[in-house]
Amino acid sequence: MSDRLFIFDTTLRDGEQVPGCQLNTVEKIEVARQLEQLGVDIIEAGFPISSPGDFNSVIEISKAVTWPTICALTRAKEKDIDCAFEALKYAKRKRIHTGIGTSDYHIKYKFNSNREDILEQAIAATKYAKKYVEDVEFYAEDAGRTDNEYLARVVEAVIKAGATVVNIPDTTGYCLPHEYGAKIKYLMDHVDGIDRAIISTHCHNDLGMATANTLSGVLNGARQVEVTINGIGERAGNTSEEEIAMILKCHKLGIETNINTRRIYGVSRLISSLMNMPVQPNKAIVGRNAFAHSSGIHQDGVLKNVETYEIMNPKDVGIDDNSIILTARSGRAALKYRLSVLGVNVSDEKHLDEIYQKFLSVADKKKEITDDDILVIAGANRSDAHKIKLDFLQVTSGVGVQSVASLGLSIAGEKFEACASGNGPVDAAVRALKNIIKREMTIKEFTIQAISKGSDDMGKVHMQVEYKGHSYYGFGANTDIVAASVEAYIDCINNFKD
Ligand code: KIV
Ligand code: ZN
Repeated sequence: MSDRLFIFDTTLRDGEQVPGCQLNTVEKIEVARQLEQLGVDIIEAGFPISSPGDFNSVIEISKAVTWPTICALTRAKEKDIDCAFEALKYAKRKRIHTGIGTSDYHIKYKFNSNREDILEQAIAATKYAKKYVEDVEFYAEDAGRTDNEYLARVVEAVIKAGATVVNIPDTTGYCLPHEYGAKIKYLMDHVDGIDRAIISTHCHNDLGMATANTLSGVLNGARQVEVTINGIGERAGNTSEEEIAMILKCHKLGIETNINTRRIYGVSRLISSLMNMPVQPNKAIVGRNAFAHSSGIHQDGVLKNVETYEIMNPKDVGIDDNSIILTARSGRAALKYRLSVLGVNVSDEKHLDEIYQKFLSVADKKKEITDDDILVIAGANRSDAHKIKLDFLQVTSGVGVQSVASLGLSIAGEKFEACASGNGPVDAAVRALKNIIKREMTIKEFTIQAISKGSDDMGKVHMQVEYKGHSYYGFGANTDIVAASVEAYIDCINNFKD
């Protein structure tokens, strides 16, 4: 068996499916280029039939990258497969990823069908995809809860029909690591022709076992892993790419990947920033505290010999302590370099200058500018095209008095102003905003997070607003937390479909 493990990155498909994490095509291209630099083998670029946006993204990502195989997802339906092939037309290496649910839950409740019929559909879809491309991956959705004997029949049949990779998803994140490993071993031992295909893991993290399950699958013979940066994905997420890459680097298991681990941190920050998806501080490998030693005993040990408490060098994941912090005295070149480390390449001098001016205005308010600040500042340009913009905001608030806000908006160039009082500064500001934009909208989720530390820190606000039965997600970042909240609200409104 080969000792090369293929990394199948599904950040732009399973990861991007998360509500609020949607990227536009330009952002997806930016991510795909960084994934290529990171060294992933396959990029799952989207589910082309699901929307014109997904279709277009697969086309543009195919044009933008050279080395990784570009994969497009389909259901076991001919029209999906036709559409996927069309979207892959510019890919230098193409893969169609087709499949169907194989657990009795899916067969009975989702398809109102039976095992034999599902088996036939699996074979037919694989053969149909094979007419278009050599590289066909089949997924047996909910394989984690599929009876092993039936699963082996499906796997054998799709390999015979031409599947080159067979994906065994633990769609619901239910399996225990030893069970998932045993499932992969069962397939390796019982499927005729298994040596003609690569078995792939695809684990969800509902019970926090995605990484353990993936590793167990690999130790039992899987040679492809489907993973996402920062572990983002449906519900509790997918297996985290950085965790698998670093496990294989730290433990000499004799299994190699093509990942350049030094690029992990930059890609992680980029994804978190573009998708407005904060990374939990204690997240393995890429969390803010992943390499921070705070207790006295640990600090003492680390100062004596770093190996007392560190099993990996932060530099190996791209964290370089000496270059994280910029200040108001830093120049354009330092900013440009830091942006490039974080995966944002700014070649146009005018664009760099715009980012630099924003950088200086934040640096004037804060002593130190962190990587997260820089990504927020660089991303600020993304909202420049928005129809509604915040012109000014003034709030008075305090203990024992009502908060009062006055606010100015520019809507498609026209100026509007309004005042309101409220139960706290954010409430007053939102009421003033609603005095201008009079729509039936409700805040469903509102989280405020300081980016790093200190009272001069930038605050990030994530907001979910419901309007006409749909949820819209918005983001704001500002050293003034009330302004960040209003910006997040405006961002939601700018995303409204009508
Ligand atoms: O979790 C899952 O089963 C999937 C498949 C569509 C591959 O994402
Ligand atoms: Zn999935």
